[in-house]
Amino acid sequence: MNMRFEPAHALSGELRPPADKSISHRAALLGAMSSEPVRIERYLHAADTTSTLDAVRALGALVEVNGEDVVVRGTGLREAREPDGVIDVGNAGTLLRLAPGWLAAQDGRTFTLDGDESIRRRPVERIVAPLEQMGARLIARDGRFAPLEVHGARLRAISYELDVASAQVKSCVLLAGLAADGATTVGEPERSRDHTERLLLRAGVAIHRNGRHVTVVNTDELALEPLRIPGDASSAAFLVAAGVLVPGSRLLICDVGVNWTRTGFFRILRRMRGIVLGDLEEESGELCAEEPVSDLDVAHGALEATVVEADEVPLAIDELPLVALLGCFAEGETVVHGAQELRLKESDRIAGVVEGLRGLGADIEATDDGFAVRGGGGLRGGTIDAHGDHRMAMVGAVAGLASREGVEVIGMDAADVSYPGFAEDVARLCS
Ligand code: S3P
Repeated sequence: MNMRFEPAHALSGELRPPADKSISHRAALLGAMSSEPVRIERYLHAADTTSTLDAVRALGALVEVNGEDVVVRGTGLREAREPDGVIDVGNAGTLLRLAPGWLAAQDGRTFTLDGDESIRRRPVERIVAPLEQMGARLIARDGRFAPLEVHGARLRAISYELDVASAQVKSCVLLAGLAADGATTVGEPERSRDHTERLLLRAGVAIHRNGRHVTVVNTDELALEPLRIPGDASSAAFLVAAGVLVPGSRLLICDVGVNWTRTGFFRILRRMRGIVLGDLEEESGELCAEEPVSDLDVAHGALEATVVEADEVPLAIDELPLVALLGCFAEGETVVHGAQELRLKESDRIAGVVEGLRGLGADIEATDDGFAVRGGGGLRGGTIDAHGDHRMAMVGAVAGLASREGVEVIGMDAADVSYPGFAEDVARLCS
């Protein structure tokens, strides 16, 4: 479905973004790994996280959906059922990378995960390597891609250093570590989102952080009290960007998760002199079980260019295409370094954002590990192809609101993966 976004006059009003996608996936999986029912309030009902509910059902969990809320009655840590067929992860990379951590520990059972065309291009060798070291056997197409077969085994604990900061790979190893004999440690080159660690701590697991290393110890059971999923900072980021870019705008985005490992984009935006008021969590070396929330008060204002370095990249990974968009309107040159992982997302987001924004009039070029934008001239408008990628579709929509002539987004329905109703929410803020 294609959709046109006309230049907006000013956005105003209050809005609660959809529930956090990363935390919803994890809550459903941990619910399935628990033996007692887990109540999840404000679960994200979007394509990706519905794939996770379907997957845990296939693995033997009972799932009840009551409006926004979900109750998962799990099988326990070591009792996942071997499904009759393939587990369809749809477009959900997080499900593809996290679920095998649990499944690798199901001794004597085999599971096959597969998904859509885009999922079949996402690398899985990054989880195959640690899970094989732990004693499971995994078979990926060409050694790298889905379909992925996981042959569960009794696992041994390992110490594993990630070569790239990836919350998905870190989480996969930690989930496997719950059922491995001994203490499993994962080291990451830079800090990445820590929702898995917070939820495990909340579930009573012995989990410790020491700098860039996290250790979990073998566990019998998870015990999760009801949880409420905060608004998704990544989804909120699109509304925030629209508010900052469109002259005359003033928005209140409510109930946004402000875990510091997710708020890199808001900090980058503040550095660009964007007006985003809110109570962002401070960086901390300590593990905590809470997911803090805040309202974000956003107003239009002039922007200045900035440089994003590698250590900031994992904290803003899904919002970097938006940094490129902001860069088109900022005075000076905005550069992102150390973001080669963007090439491995739902689409190649370096190529997509550079070609897409250039087609709308941006002065932008790709580098090996990011991009550079010379800004100040704004965007003319035109047509942008989302290439089936939800975040690129929403970048195109916000570009349209801030452009001089409007933008036609090819494949706007891709947004349903994380933000169903995005176009309606934008229309409400524009009226
Ligand atoms: C996610 C981690 C990130 C992010 C993705 C969601 C998660 O991926 O891009 O959208 O929920 O753990 P990587 O772990 O591959 O960086």
